[in-house]
Amino acid sequence: MSETFFVTTALPYANGPFHIGHIMEYIQADIWVRFQRMQGKRVHFVGADDAHGAPVMLKAQAEHTTPEALVARIAADRPRYLEGFHIGFDHWHCTHSSENTRLSHDIYRHLRTAGLIDSRSVEQFYDPVQGMFLADRYIKGECPKCHAKDQYGDACEVCGSVYAPTELIAPYSALSGAKPVLRSSDHFFFRLSDPRCAAFLRQWLEQPGHVQPQVANKAREWLEGRDGRALSDWDISRDAPYFGIPIPDAPGKFFYVWLDAPIGYLASLQSYIDSGKARANGEMRTFEQLLAAPDTRQVHFIGKDIIYFHTLFWPAMLHFAGPPYRVPDNVHVHGFITVSGEKMSKSRGTGISPLRYLELGLNPEWLRYYLAAKLNATVEDLDFNAQDFVARVNSDLIGKYVNIASRAAPFVTRHFDGSIDYPAGTGELLDVAREVLEQVRESYAAREFARAMRQIMTFADRLNQDFDARRPWILAKDPTQRAALQDSCARALYGFKVLTCLLAPVLPALAERVARELLGLQRPLAWADALEPPRRIHPYRHLMTRIDPKQLDALFEPAGEIPVPTKTAPQTPSVEPAGSSGAPRTALTATQGAPAPPTLSIEEFKRIDLRVARIAAAEHVAGADKLLKLTLDLGGETRTVFAGIKSAYDPAALAGRLTVLVANLAPRKMKFGLSEGMVLAASGETGGPYLLAPDSGAIPGMRIG
Ligand code: 2FM
Ligand code: ZN
Repeated sequence: MSETFFVTTALPYANGPFHIGHIMEYIQADIWVRFQRMQGKRVHFVGADDAHGAPVMLKAQAEHTTPEALVARIAADRPRYLEGFHIGFDHWHCTHSSENTRLSHDIYRHLRTAGLIDSRSVEQFYDPVQGMFLADRYIKGECPKCHAKDQYGDACEVCGSVYAPTELIAPYSALSGAKPVLRSSDHFFFRLSDPRCAAFLRQWLEQPGHVQPQVANKAREWLEGRDGRALSDWDISRDAPYFGIPIPDAPGKFFYVWLDAPIGYLASLQSYIDSGKARANGEMRTFEQLLAAPDTRQVHFIGKDIIYFHTLFWPAMLHFAGPPYRVPDNVHVHGFITVSGEKMSKSRGTGISPLRYLELGLNPEWLRYYLAAKLNATVEDLDFNAQDFVARVNSDLIGKYVNIASRAAPFVTRHFDGSIDYPAGTGELLDVAREVLEQVRESYAAREFARAMRQIMTFADRLNQDFDARRPWILAKDPTQRAALQDSCARALYGFKVLTCLLAPVLPALAERVARELLGLQRPLAWADALEPPRRIHPYRHLMTRIDPKQLDALFEPAGEIPVPTKTAPQTPSVEPAGSSGAPRTALTATQGAPAPPTLSIEEFKRIDLRVARIAAAEHVAGADKLLKLTLDLGGETRTVFAGIKSAYDPAALAGRLTVLVANLAPRKMKFGLSEGMVLAASGETGGPYLLAPDSGAIPGMRIG
């Protein structure tokens, strides 16, 4: 065996479920991995959860749980998605693990020995209530340029200016609301400004194939800097409290999450090898032997938002840590996925929810094919368009590919008892197959999947045209034309087998069914099977249904915590009062004289995520009689809610007030925009609505219940 590939995808943060962007990346990598395996290459494909950092710690705190428990809960949900979309990681691990601690310590110690770790004092905002240093995104205040209120510590969303958090006017902690104080603390730095780093990275970026040319150009821009200065040193430490890996010989200091996250790739590989699963995959070498072997290829699939970390910090860390670590052989960067031309938003949960896709019973291979038909080796964004999705899948997979078998196979079963002869020989057919295989092989290898799908469908078109031109349905009626009928069906079914091999990386489940049920093979298809014309088939069984556009309607409703109705799970009742559909997201839970709603179990009640929210801004909505638009601060997160309280409140009097938000209500698209939750208010015969407010001392983001 020649090369062994060690393939990874970016490690997802462990504070939330997968979104469609993750799934797209995993599908891209999975297709490439399956293709390489079909070529006879050995591949170790691993992933892990990126567990560390302040957001995970704070989310766990808000949920009154430990970060470990939060991470475990998120991890438990991963297989549903991965299996659901046929994403075949060999192993899934976690950066909060003994392997990652050992490797992070080892790499850090090597960098320290190489003279590349410095320590110096840093002055930073500190939240005296929360008892922690604040990252820029946890500090808010008035923009020093345009004086917009409630802007983040690094940049103003209103005027776009960029500044240091210390420049904010009247800064406050987004976590506690407290006034932050400046404090000094010692931090550790990776000395990227050392000329050795720039020299190494220059040379690494110059070598063709490590990254796409566009990516190399971008990385070079950062490397050389606009003013010709080298990279700045990288702050790799954070002070307690922090959920991370403790730094050796430095009590109270932890590695910044981005230091140990990519090391998590190696930790997952190590854990995969130690678990014995790699052996079962034919890998007998130790972790160190595998990494250090000259024919190993370390390949990372990532999104364009994290190029900086993967083309500068990560290769430099690995290079200066020395053997057995190897610098990445390839960093393959993809663009973002947009939905109908709009960038998806993780926090608002709109766009396509992968879980919803599966729960609605949509075929995962439709999505795999659609993505493959749009993916290429550039960093351009890819758009998911529902109409295009339906048209592409129905026309290509059903109309072109499946169509061949569904039309040709019944003739063979009926007239030839399932046996296939090639009256005109197979020479010409094999020549055509070789040519197509080679074209498609090159496209897959270069991650030009869209090109591969075009080449495959061009071949399918030719097969369909050839089949039609031979008119087997006429031949079948004439006993003197048996050879011609056999020939037309044999050509079509051999072509179908070639197509199935070519599509197998994209449609693994379907290819497996074709291999087993139609071709009678008890093993997965290999690339070389495409050069073996089939001699027998089993009766054709339906392979894939068309997409009914109606099936997609439910996919595009904003996703939320409320599960879609399924046969087994009854729909969770909404907490809104009856008759309020399409109405403002203001709950009227206390109703004088109205019958009390049915009893709720404590478990049911706990599913409602009630939070303290600060009304950062309140404004009238043009064209709305009853609504006010509220901008709510949840302590680090901002939500927009349209509330039907205009009759009772002057917006100017609301800013700064605390209220109660139902935070896990499914967002709802309204005429005026997206409403991301519901504020609570009381009303009855004697008046209202009366907005609920917590007692003093409560702070934004606090959980109620
Ligand atoms: O951007 C992110 O989602 C990070 N969790 C990616 C980490 S990739 C690797 F370095 F672990
Ligand atoms: Zn501004």
